[in-house]
Amino acid sequence: MRHALVFGASGQIGRPLLAVLQREGWRVTAVSRSEHPDEPGLHWLRGELGAVPDLPARVDVIFSCGPLDRFAQWYAEADIEVARVIAFGSTSVEVKRGSADAAERGVAQRLRQGEETVFATAEKRGAGATLLRPTLVYGAGRDATLTRIASLARRWGRFPLPRGANGLRQPVHVDDLAMAAFACSGVATTHGRAYALPGGETLTYRDMVARVLASLSPPPQLVELPSPLFNLALLVAQMTGRATGLGEAAVRRMRSDLVFDVTPAKQDFGYDPRPFRPRANMFEPRADEA
Ligand SMILES: NC(=O)c1ccc[n+]([C@@H]2O[C@H](COP(=O)([O-])OP(=O)(O)OC[C@H]3O[C@@H](n4cnc5c(N)ncnc54)[C@H](OP(=O)(O)O)[C@@H]3O)[C@@H](O)[C@H]2O)c1
Repeated sequence: MRHALVFGASGQIGRPLLAVLQREGWRVTAVSRSEHPDEPGLHWLRGELGAVPDLPARVDVIFSCGPLDRFAQWYAEADIEVARVIAFGSTSVEVKRGSADAAERGVAQRLRQGEETVFATAEKRGAGATLLRPTLVYGAGRDATLTRIASLARRWGRFPLPRGANGLRQPVHVDDLAMAAFACSGVATTHGRAYALPGGETLTYRDMVARVLASLSPPPQLVELPSPLFNLALLVAQMTGRATGLGEAAVRRMRSDLVFDVTPAKQDFGYDPRPFRPRANMFEPRADEA
């Protein structure tokens, strides 16, 4: 029986990955900072990355579905026998590299360093590492973009966007990411490579938001404002603490295309993400995680 060690197992990608591994008959050791009940084939260890007691001495595959920088640091120092490592990073490594916002450039820099450390450690130990970079994640009601938009729109009965928010996006469902991680674990071509994992449909930011709103009941109205008016509304929202995390760079990006090529992942491990067909329950925490 194959044995997987999963970090970030309680997260929005980690949970569906556990389900895939259990379905495929793997033995799974999952790590979390909080307590979770064991299930047949699934054993939880509790601890901070870097201080997890009773880690197995050897496993077949390690999956990292949590913060990449912390995982990379742990892996570089860990005394564990493993031939295969699959770690989630983010397309932000490219998107935020040239951002006007210093904090965003810092995110890109940490992701880049994390990727380099994982690859360097794997090479030193003769292991095969693969980095997976999702685009905008949704599906588990826990993401910081579309779930946040849905929750604000439900509360306000409407949702404002600046006119011309026509930058292209490729939202990707968490279940497709979990399948991708599992699928590439058995493919040697993916060793030493990083893959963008976009969703199965490319659409404008405005249309993406419009589809989220249309999936809610009753559907909140999309209000497109001239940029100066939107910026003023945003400033007020920021000053009253209702728009934390939405900075100028993020608003400017609504007009930029963030598009990634699915071909390498498709060719190398059959990645086949679904088109963007949101339903209201994708923006609510799943029953077992609420
Ligand atoms: N969300 C997105 O839109 C998005 C987009 C692109 C890429 N990604 C990448 O995909 C991966 C998974 O994303 P996610 O949003 O599901 O992950 P996440 O919420 O950042 O973290 C997943 C899990 O990692 C554990 N974790 C978080 N912070 C930790 C810390 N400081 N120390 C130790 N454990 C920690 C938590 O588990 P416990 O609380 O149980 O310990 C959490 O449930 C990440 O690498 C992320 O960068 C996400």
